[in-house]
Amino acid sequence: MHIELKNISHAFKSETGLLPVLRELSFSISHEKFVSIVGPSGCGKSTITRLVSGLLKPNNGEVYISNERVISPRSTVGMAFQNPVLLEWRNVIDNIILPLEIVSRKMTKRNMQERARKLLKLVGLEEFEKSRPSELSGGMKQRISLCRALVHQPEVLILDEPFGALDAFTREDLWQTMLTLKREESFTCILITHDLREAVFLADEVLVLSGRPATLQFKLNVHLNTVRKLTDLYTNQTTKSLSILRDQIEIAQNKQNFS
Ligand SMILES: Nc1ncnc2c1ncn2[C@@H]1O[C@H](COP(=O)(O)OP(=O)(O)OP(=O)(O)O)[C@@H](O)[C@H]1O
Ligand SMILES: [Mg+2]
Repeated sequence: MHIELKNISHAFKSETGLLPVLRELSFSISHEKFVSIVGPSGCGKSTITRLVSGLLKPNNGEVYISNERVISPRSTVGMAFQNPVLLEWRNVIDNIILPLEIVSRKMTKRNMQERARKLLKLVGLEEFEKSRPSELSGGMKQRISLCRALVHQPEVLILDEPFGALDAFTREDLWQTMLTLKREESFTCILITHDLREAVFLADEVLVLSGRPATLQFKLNVHLNTVRKLTDLYTNQTTKSLSILRDQIEIAQNKQNFS
């Protein structure tokens, strides 16, 4: 297994006492698999991303990446979020190479830029390497953010609602960009999303978390071909999978509302 969460329980201190967020959560992900995680708002999804990346230590339980216990932040993890924070005083290519400047200090600037150009080409933005972030659309910014998350060839990519702020068509374009990146680069991916179609379209497996304190409630294996097209989302089998997931979300939400 590439990523393993073993019996994770975590609570945050709040003004009214302890807020239990995760309870005995366990799951594992094989090398180079793509797993989507869905669950009610506030159930602990972003908390999981912080645990896997080593930014947060669980109260109980263990996280492993490649059989090594995660106890501090890892440079072998790449992350992208809903709001791509790009530095306005750097152009596109210099924004992308930022992680390399931090973790691969011995690499020449020329090699860093070559690596960034390869990714820019994959996301279809090779002509924009000299642009400033303010000159880009939301979808373009998110493409740049994906390039930056992957530039140092992380073994794990964590995406926390990266397409959530985009309009429906731009979002679908980005899904296809994501599939291209997955085909051309090698990484294991965790995608947090509220969009069930997105969860299914991109993943090998979808995990549904229960309401807070979250534990693993349901697991769906996605039976789409490796080469996917958007119309695959409208087949009988996918519609059935989406309906099963919708039911599971409802169960999770009811549990959270009553807890
Ligand atoms: N650092 C923190 N201190 C205290 N409480 C926190 C902290 N981080 C998160 N929480 C609380 O833990 C719970 C889970 O938060 P988390 O951000 O993981 O949820 P989420 O599933 O990502 O939600 P959303 O879908 O809305 O993004 C929330 O109730 C949140 O208020
Ligand atoms: Mg979140």
